[in-house]
Amino acid sequence: MSCRYCVPEESLKCIKERSDLLSFEEITKIVQTLSGMGIKRIKVTGGEPLIKRGITSLIKGLAAISGIEDISLTTNGQLLSGLALDLKRAGLSRINVSLDSLNSEKYNYLSRGGDLALAFEGIKKAIEVGMSPVKMNVVAIKGVNDFKEDILDFLSFTRELPVYVRFIEHMTARVSHEDEALVPTAKIKEIVESEVSLEEMAPPIGGGPAKYYKPAGYLGGVGFISAMSDSFCQNCNRLRLSATGTIKSCLFSCKETDIITPLRGGASDEKIKRIITELVASKPKDRLGSLEDDCDWQMLKIGG
Ligand code: 5AD
Repeated sequence: MSCRYCVPEESLKCIKERSDLLSFEEITKIVQTLSGMGIKRIKVTGGEPLIKRGITSLIKGLAAISGIEDISLTTNGQLLSGLALDLKRAGLSRINVSLDSLNSEKYNYLSRGGDLALAFEGIKKAIEVGMSPVKMNVVAIKGVNDFKEDILDFLSFTRELPVYVRFIEHMTARVSHEDEALVPTAKIKEIVESEVSLEEMAPPIGGGPAKYYKPAGYLGGVGFISAMSDSFCQNCNRLRLSATGTIKSCLFSCKETDIITPLRGGASDEKIKRIITELVASKPKDRLGSLEDDCDWQMLKIGG
């Protein structure tokens, strides 16, 4: 798949050599080091992690690292039903599925080719094998999936299934012009509240930047990630490790710190820890401290 808000239209620059990517062993090694520094939670994202051959063995390796308490994964759900049980057995406790519309044509349009029925099967299977919580990511795009019927479809979905639907504001790193695709949280919340009254609830495991609400009598709930209209930077403790072996301390920044070169050059664990400590110390206070107009910012490369 190739979601419109994430993957640019122009052709992608492919990574030619497998050796330009971190191997599973290298990812595991880096997570071991991070775990020694206090990191407890890992999220595996992409691209699409489930197309990676042997993904369950990566999860198993990560789950075996002492100090890692929580492993989650973000997927488009297309291959999930066949893998859910193995992933759960490997140590994956919970899952986020990107699913932007419950109308199969809109879903297919936004994802440039996705099959809604497969994503559904994946979600059902994830619930069945005991992954919890199951969360859905919806990026609302103005004029496409932000109509009352779209939002209410999601609301009914959470009534029937123990799923948390999170509406995520469309993000862009550009500072100088208005984002025409952006649908502010306030608008979606208003639609939801025209139907049900919302009680704020403690976030399910994973927490993160979303605020959660549970309508009375619903099996699931709704969440809002107001990445643009609100700032949750002060609570952000994330680091992002890219497929090519760089680490980022801010989603919105183009700055990356090379970790693959020292790792392959045989740097000691202490040296790697020093690099990471410096990176954490330089984490910007908020996204405005990160934004640059001339950088090639792509959500695709960051994992969402
Ligand atoms: N704005 C907001 N969220 C995005 N994602 C990807 N691109 C964007 C964007 N431009 C999120 C989606 C998806 C996850 C992998 O990344 O929510 O579920």
